[in-house]
Amino acid sequence: MLYPNLKFPKKSDRPFFYTNFVSTVDGKVQVKKEGYWPIGSRRDYQVLLELRSFADCLIHGGNLGREFGGITVKSLNKPAFKRMRKKLGKDPVLPYYILSARTDGLKISKTSIINPQDGIPGLVKFLQDKGYKNVLVEGGPTLLGSFLKENLIDEIFLTIAPKIYGNEKGSTLTLVEGQLFPEHAIKNLRLLSVKKFNSELYLRYRVI
Ligand SMILES: NC(=O)c1ccc[n+]([C@@H]2O[C@H](COP(=O)([O-])OP(=O)(O)OC[C@H]3O[C@@H](n4cnc5c(N)ncnc54)[C@H](OP(=O)(O)O)[C@@H]3O)[C@@H](O)[C@H]2O)c1
Repeated sequence: MLYPNLKFPKKSDRPFFYTNFVSTVDGKVQVKKEGYWPIGSRRDYQVLLELRSFADCLIHGGNLGREFGGITVKSLNKPAFKRMRKKLGKDPVLPYYILSARTDGLKISKTSIINPQDGIPGLVKFLQDKGYKNVLVEGGPTLLGSFLKENLIDEIFLTIAPKIYGNEKGSTLTLVEGQLFPEHAIKNLRLLSVKKFNSELYLRYRVI
């Protein structure tokens, strides 16, 4: 494991929120064309599973859910994943929700598609009421932007893949989409750890 004994600070009034992304060296987290996915190595995918295994709940935005919801459900149901959670003393079943106002294109049970009336604050209350302590928000970038705007992301796990994709207007996504934080609200991060595997870097940041 890259992060054995991973622990997060406890919050009393809301869950602790963390995210996990993989980015190219030039900051791209997705290209809206065939042939660019996956961005990270197989090891990065193992780290994704590892970070999921520490969570009490997993959240995806509507677009990420439409693209990867079906695959996510399958991977959460795999015996190896459930065993990994059991070893950590977690419930083998990781609750998974997609935040969306629509059900079309989502291959997940309807009860797992949520659309709280008052958006992110409503979602936070829903998760707090469920008793989840550590919530993994895997994005995508639009959802991550909404969480960061509300100062609700506590840690960012970021894999830097040794690649440069370049750009063509409108064809790529970066870590945060849909928000330009005003100067007084720029997010500052503290590096907690750096690990490497071949030429790939695994960064863990605390949002301050
Ligand atoms: N490289 C990586 O590590 C990584 C990680 C995650 C995702 N991605 C990529 O990111 C892409 C998806 O990201 P995205 O930015 O297009 O979409 P997204 O963040 O996955 O989803 C945004 C959607 O979530 C729903 N939503 C509901 N309430 C919201 C709120 N308060 N704030 C924001 N969204 C809310 C809306 O969907 P409805 O319209 O359905 O209501 C909204 O359009 C995928 O291509 C995926 O592959 C890459």
